[in-house]
Amino acid sequence: MAEKPWGGRFAEKTHDLLEKFSESISYDKRLYPYDIRGSIAHCKMLAKQEIIPQADSEKIIAGLEEILQEIESGQFQFSEALEDIHMNIEKRLIDKIGDVGGKLHTARSRNDQVALDTKLYLRDTIKDVINLLGQFRSAIAELAKNNSDVIMPGYTHLQRAQPVLFANHMMAYCDMLQRDSERFDDCLKRVNVLPLGAGALAGTTFPIDREYVAGLLDFPAITRNSLDTVSDRDFVIEFCSASSILMMHLSRLSEELILWSSDEFDFIEISDAFCTGSSIMPQKKNPDIPELTRGKTGRVYGNLIAILTVMKGLPLAYNRDMQEDKEPLFDTIDTVMISVQLFTEMMKNIEINKGKMFAAAGGGYSTATEVADYLVRKGLPFRDAHAVVGNIVKYCISKDIAQVGDLSLDEFRGFSDSIENDIYEYVDLVKSTINKSKLFKIDDAGV
Ligand code: ARG
Repeated sequence: MAEKPWGGRFAEKTHDLLEKFSESISYDKRLYPYDIRGSIAHCKMLAKQEIIPQADSEKIIAGLEEILQEIESGQFQFSEALEDIHMNIEKRLIDKIGDVGGKLHTARSRNDQVALDTKLYLRDTIKDVINLLGQFRSAIAELAKNNSDVIMPGYTHLQRAQPVLFANHMMAYCDMLQRDSERFDDCLKRVNVLPLGAGALAGTTFPIDREYVAGLLDFPAITRNSLDTVSDRDFVIEFCSASSILMMHLSRLSEELILWSSDEFDFIEISDAFCTGSSIMPQKKNPDIPELTRGKTGRVYGNLIAILTVMKGLPLAYNRDMQEDKEPLFDTIDTVMISVQLFTEMMKNIEINKGKMFAAAGGGYSTATEVADYLVRKGLPFRDAHAVVGNIVKYCISKDIAQVGDLSLDEFRGFSDSIENDIYEYVDLVKSTINKSKLFKIDDAGV
């Protein structure tokens, strides 16, 4: 009863339901290029160390390269009965080149092999994500630059607070995304440590050369502890955590784009290519990309919690529970990659309703703080100035005056005789906004 690569000590056939339950090939097949690359490096090392003959190693490597072609051209038959990508490839190798294929797994276990495959895959992915984030930041910076004179209301509590430059608002997202990139880059340091050589958990008695394998696979370091090597999924959790924070940022931008594109705000127009219609209301144009991104943030958080929960309380070293790291990880990767790409394209195709933003920026007595600051310059303590301006705003509301700058000088002086004609300079929307934002560097996208 030795159909399975591990079937030697088994007398009975595996139950069909168990096969369905335990297989991971349906989703871990995406690791195939990394599994093959890792196996080739391992095989070269086995030959160099004279653990297997050079001629066998050459046969194995040629076989693996052919398998790569078979998978890439869609000819490869994946089998659920063979559980995972590692055994699917190994079985095919033995079918192709005969028993010599069985030598590949010398001094190796699927436990260190799966850690290697996941790290190799994640390493490429992280580089792609960082690259995509750079493009995203450029798109935002471009939008900010093309609208550098646009003034909009800045909000706290979603109430108009003080006018801000639209560019300032947008570049806030560039800073968030810059931090996201740094988090991914930091995660990469822990991903980039070679796990191979730990075997099942205890290492191996064969005279392997881990530094050599690390060199072949471009790992700057190798792991130190064999038990930790096969039971560590911190790097998966870190990736999912950095992704969750990134999605949180995207969901905040989503929320703003959804609000701004509503008739109530009417600040922006998202191009048709990134919206959908309603099946019942012909007039509708819905901001689906931001909405879906906001929604998908939930699944990315869920994936982080799933993997944290899988790892919680697991005794050392490898446990089969850990196979459950892959679906949350892969789903996170897919979600993050497409969200960032779509957002980048969408940001390049947003029209800004400058007039609407400017009109809204002037409402809500948004320059009231300027009047208070003006009075402070004239010698009033800030708290007293605050009280005077509170009265000014109350007066404006009662007289239906839209902006403090619409008051006459006489009206102003009714509240404080420190106020002179130059007040109108201070409450000017454009001047005050530009003056305030001068202290901050808003034109540096960090790209
Ligand atoms: N498919 C397994 C996983 O993803 C590979 C390691 C299997 N190891 C084992 N001892 N059954 O974790």
